[in-house]
Amino acid sequence: MSASLSPAARTPSVARIPAAALHDAAGRFGTPLYVYNAAELDAAVARVQAAFGDARVYYAMKANPNLSVLRRLFAAGVGFECVSPGEIARAEHVGAAGDALLVNGPAKSDAEYAAGGRLGATFIVDRAGEAPLLPPGSRVLVRVNPALAVSTHDHLATGAANSKFGVTPEQVPPLLDALRAAGHTPLGLHVHIGSAIRDAHDFTAAFGRLAELRPHTGPLAVLDAGGGWGLDADLPGIAREAWAAAHAFGAQLWVEPGRYLVARAGTLLTRVVGTKRTGRDFCLVDAGMTELMRPMLYGAVHPVTAVGKAAVDEAAGEVGLWDLAGPACESGDVLARDVPLPAPQRGDLLAIGEAGAYGAAMSSSYLTRSRPAEALWDGSDWTLIRRRETPQDVWAMEL
Ligand SMILES: Cc1ncc(COP(=O)(O)O)c(C=O)c1O
Repeated sequence: MSASLSPAARTPSVARIPAAALHDAAGRFGTPLYVYNAAELDAAVARVQAAFGDARVYYAMKANPNLSVLRRLFAAGVGFECVSPGEIARAEHVGAAGDALLVNGPAKSDAEYAAGGRLGATFIVDRAGEAPLLPPGSRVLVRVNPALAVSTHDHLATGAANSKFGVTPEQVPPLLDALRAAGHTPLGLHVHIGSAIRDAHDFTAAFGRLAELRPHTGPLAVLDAGGGWGLDADLPGIAREAWAAAHAFGAQLWVEPGRYLVARAGTLLTRVVGTKRTGRDFCLVDAGMTELMRPMLYGAVHPVTAVGKAAVDEAAGEVGLWDLAGPACESGDVLARDVPLPAPQRGDLLAIGEAGAYGAAMSSSYLTRSRPAEALWDGSDWTLIRRRETPQDVWAMEL
């Protein structure tokens, strides 16, 4: 039993959608269902723009690539960071190109170089061998691996010495020279140390490693400080440190948040299927690892609340602690541990919060389960922004 899955240390935060509206959505579109609050999306963008001032914001669309989400962010002045041919195609589909586009990834395919080149994207170079592969005359950033141990799950750390990402600080000056010699335009440096980082000092350390390179690189046009901010991160503090590093180079600041922009806006709705007791008290629900992979993959903790049921009163003794388990034939298919819930009944609606990032995006059709629908709440009504898959959708490409 992993203590790290206990929600006790977390403040519940579902996306501020009225319980009646959540019941309405679950009734209309079925469960499991991803719902998003448009106002929360807008508020997150506003917080980032307020904290980072003139920095250019690129949304790491891996967090949630739904076209309606992308359109909303793009309309708010946000560009996109893409890491696959499919993500580049999504960006193009919503009208993003040129300055609004970053193409990143440790193992880019020919298709990514070609599509990024056609759209005039800036490429984030991850290794020296990329210089001859880039489209002629590309604008590029060099990703630096600062070799730091950071405060997050191992699988979410991307700037550690043993991580596959970026180049070492010593490799940066010769790589900048090689890129220039190959006819490209190095705009500057990029760093992204991981996701869901808990300790702001990690960012300070990473930006400091970049600033140390200044005597070896000379002035640069751009410093891309990546993303990775935890949901409770001190954005003004991170922004101050990032701008300080950018100023060391005389550079403009770019940032690449994913989770921060979309996580709080999203909630996974699931219905109780039943309860059972083994060595633990299980509340069985109709969502599982196929709809929300993060608890299994990263030991992620998501707040869970019963929609429309009286507030949980643990002191009154009416509440049990339940492990929320899904329908998959996998022991790891547990979405949360020790969730305080008032006597769950079949059909009760539960809300799993902070699920807007890496939730629907990582959902799968394992077990020929239909990936869930997604609906957007505009404050007064719902728009279905992705219909639920059917089994026929899942096998459509098969003979
Ligand atoms: C290069 C890069 N930038 C930005 C992000 C976004 O990270 P987060 O969603 O934690 O902000 C990621 C996520 O892995 C990434 O790999």
